[in-house]
Amino acid sequence: MNSGPLIFFGIFLTLASSFWGFLLMPQMKMGNQQVTEIAETGQLYPIGHSGMAGQGAEVYRSLGCVECHTRQVRPRNLGGDIARGWGNRRSVAQDYLKDYPVLLGDLRVGPDLANAGVRHTNEIELLKLLYKPQSVNMGGMPGYPFLFQRNHLTQGQQPSADALKVEGEPADWEIIPSENARALAAYILSLRSDVSLFEAPLPPKPKPAGQDTNAAPASATNAQPAGGAPAASAPAPSANPAK
Ligand code: HEC
Repeated sequence: MNSGPLIFFGIFLTLASSFWGFLLMPQMKMGNQQVTEIAETGQLYPIGHSGMAGQGAEVYRSLGCVECHTRQVRPRNLGGDIARGWGNRRSVAQDYLKDYPVLLGDLRVGPDLANAGVRHTNEIELLKLLYKPQSVNMGGMPGYPFLFQRNHLTQGQQPSADALKVEGEPADWEIIPSENARALAAYILSLRSDVSLFEAPLPPKPKPAGQDTNAAPASATNAQPAGGAPAASAPAPSANPAK
């Protein structure tokens, strides 16, 4: 029997189904994502990392930060990322629309950085972290002192205005962050995926207890203000022993 056509058809089917599954389907589902306008703020999302932050993305890539840090928050049912405070919602394709290359990372020696810019807002603290992680109690992270210039001060010479004050460093040396260090800090400050998207909405914000809207009678229903507060809110446990 001539099994040629059968083999041909088998190979064709294998190639066609993998082309369909790996290329066509993802392209159809996600291929024409656009920058969207966020309804509440009118801002565009994502705006990408431009200027210093864009330069910082290249530094991040060249130093291999991605070997230890991911930039992706897993969905609530696939891990504890949200519970750890790494984000309020899962990461979706839209978050990376302006990134090239996308630095997702696949090892988590350190925390996920998808929302590092929400947790860290102080450039100086970030620069200290990069220079000497121990100085900001993050000893688990390697230091990158070569991103800084160390100058010896002659007697009576004042350190320049942009010198870092790092604990435990000799007073007669000044530590000046290089442009790459500043760019890297700007990149980390720009990392945030905390806008509500259609495919990954943010959880509703808990209303602060006692602060009601103009829907006054709602407080008398079962829509308890305290019920909407985060689990970690302090008053509830301390009220219990009194009962
Ligand atoms: C060898 C693994 C490793 C590498 C490489 C590494 N880090 Fe880290 N990083 C860590 C660890 C571990 C921590 C947590 C430290 C701690 O809490 O003691 C951390 C913490 C951080 C934090 C604070 C995170 C938070 O949630 O507060 C930032 C920001 C950070 N790293 C940025 C970077 C950048 C930028 C680079 C590249 C220049 C980098 N890391 C390279 C392991 C690493």
